[in-house]
Amino acid sequence: MDMSRRTVIAGAAAAGLTAATIGTAHASGGRKPEKELFGKLADGTKVHRWSLENGGTRLKVLSYGGIVQSLEIPDRHGRYKNVALGFDNIDDYVASSPYFGALIGRYGNRIGKGQFTLDGKSYQLSVNDGANSLHGGAKGFDKHVWDVEGFTSGSDVGLVLHYTSIDGEMGYPGTLRAKVTYTLTGHGDWRIDYEATTDKATVVNLTSHVYWNLAGEGSGSIYDHELEIAAARFTPVDSGLIPTGELAGVAGTPFDFRRTKTVGRDIRVAHQQLLYGKGIDHNWVLDKGITAKPRHVATLRDPSSGRTLSIATTEPGLQFYSGNFLDGTLVGTGGHIYRQGDALCLETQHFPDSPNHPSFPSTVLRPGQTYRTSTVHSFGG
Ligand code: GLA
Repeated sequence: MDMSRRTVIAGAAAAGLTAATIGTAHASGGRKPEKELFGKLADGTKVHRWSLENGGTRLKVLSYGGIVQSLEIPDRHGRYKNVALGFDNIDDYVASSPYFGALIGRYGNRIGKGQFTLDGKSYQLSVNDGANSLHGGAKGFDKHVWDVEGFTSGSDVGLVLHYTSIDGEMGYPGTLRAKVTYTLTGHGDWRIDYEATTDKATVVNLTSHVYWNLAGEGSGSIYDHELEIAAARFTPVDSGLIPTGELAGVAGTPFDFRRTKTVGRDIRVAHQQLLYGKGIDHNWVLDKGITAKPRHVATLRDPSSGRTLSIATTEPGLQFYSGNFLDGTLVGTGGHIYRQGDALCLETQHFPDSPNHPSFPSTVLRPGQTYRTSTVHSFGG
């Protein structure tokens, strides 16, 4: 038995929970993912919800946008909460989701004016964030129904998600075939492996947009969560949140998370970058750059519940967004209103606007190459 399961059982026993209450979290190996109808789009397309459980983690994923609709993990007493913001119905996702839990493509984050030049050709992308293109444009990968298959493999369970984006979609060149694998390991880790190929030179930057609140979605602010990010630099932005190109040191700024501090500690410091972001909405330049295997880059902890999230990635950047645009107009899964700072996102990625910054790690993908990145989320209680 691994450590994380032992912790879950000990915690559950301490809290007086029965095996029935904690479900099959301790069964050896995982059950094959199960699928149910979640809803239908306006044109009648069915959206399914897949349920996975392994190593003490419970994950629910929609075929629409590959959305993590719910992710439940135990606290220090073995009590489960859903720690990912979302909705309980498809209509709200279609009408008003700010990318809750979604897969983001073709390009996570912003591209200035939605323009870039590649091999001497200029491209104009769909512009959907002021003058800029955000998260793939008006209809990004988060707004398409993916083909989904469930699998079990050894002690892992998971889903393979496919989406093919046709040449010219949202202004991007090339037919891009994306494959994303969500794996729940026997330790309860949620791993994401992204792959893509193209038939013309293009740019690609895939990520996942889970809004975390380790005390439980709808439970209030994340300003008391403690965060550590292994990054000595970040990419300062202009008023439209496009990087200036500078890699600035975090030392002596509110952006220094090299030693654990609370999210809220410096969030009201009158720093120009926090004014631009209405809080934190910035890309950290991860110390180790691109790596062949995922390595630890950030740890988030909620002191009230003891729940922790540790992130490892192969990616060079991490967008930390402190939920600044949540404005009290959305009602989440548990029936509560989401307000500013009620969740945060930690999006592993290449840097924003890389196609217009030759000095940033390249996001170009060419025919014959395979785009591959991986991110692992590990949980503790
Ligand atoms: C990303 C962006 C933010 C915001 C959210 C969605 O994290 O960086 O500025 O657009 O997505 O609201």
